[in-house]
Amino acid sequence: MKGKFITFEGIDGAGKSSHVEWLAEWLRGQGKVVHVTREPGGTELGEELRALLLREPMHLETETLLMFAARREHLAKLIEPALQHGEWVVCDRFSDATYAYQGGGRGLDRGKFQALEHWVHEHVQPDLTLLFDLPLDVARERIVLANRKLDKFEQERVDFHDRVRQAYLERAQSNPNRIQVIDANNSIENIRKTLEQIVSNRCL
Ligand code: TYD
Repeated sequence: MKGKFITFEGIDGAGKSSHVEWLAEWLRGQGKVVHVTREPGGTELGEELRALLLREPMHLETETLLMFAARREHLAKLIEPALQHGEWVVCDRFSDATYAYQGGGRGLDRGKFQALEHWVHEHVQPDLTLLFDLPLDVARERIVLANRKLDKFEQERVDFHDRVRQAYLERAQSNPNRIQVIDANNSIENIRKTLEQIVSNRCL
C-alpha cells in the first residue's frame, strides 16, 4: 500500500501553515499515519539550507539549485520512505513553489526547473496540491499584522509577489487534476470544510 502525498502552496501571507497542521490532525482522526513537513527544510540538512535560503543574498540559480538540493534530501530521507510504508506526507510547499518563486517571481527559465524536477523527483509527484489563493493586499495585511521579522522573500516588492501569484494560478490551470485552488480570503471554518471535502473526494 502506498501513502498519499499532499502539498500546500500559496503566496506569503495566504495563511496555509495553520491549515497544514489542522489537516494532518483531521487525517490522523481518519486513522492515517501522517508526517507534517515543509520546504525548504524537512530534514536536518534541509533546515540548514532553509536558514541560508531565507536569509542570505545569493545568485538566483544558486537559490534554485539549493531548493532542489534540499528537496533531494527531503525525498530520500522522509517523503519516499514514508509513502512506501503507506504513510501520508503533508508538506508545506514543494516544487510548485520553485516554479512560482524562482520562475514567476525571479523570472528564471522554467526549462531549467523541468530538468531539475526530472532529475530529483521524476517518479514522485504530489497526489494533491492545495493552492491557497487571495488578493495581494489581504496577504500583505496579514503579514504586517503578524508583526515579525520578514524573511528574504517576504521583503520582496509587491510586483514580485504578484508574479508569484500569477505563476501559481497558471500552474493550477495547466495541472487541473492535481492542483485545487482554495479561496484563502475566507473564514477558517469554511476553508476547513472545503479541505475536508476535497481530501475526502480525492484521497480517501
Ligand atoms: P514559508 O513557507 O512561507 O514559511 P513561513 O510560513 O515560515 O514564512 O517560507 C518559505 C519561503 O521560501 C517562501 O517565501 C517561499 C520560498 N520558496 C521558494 O522561493 N522556492 C521554493 O522552491 C520553496 C519550497 C520555497
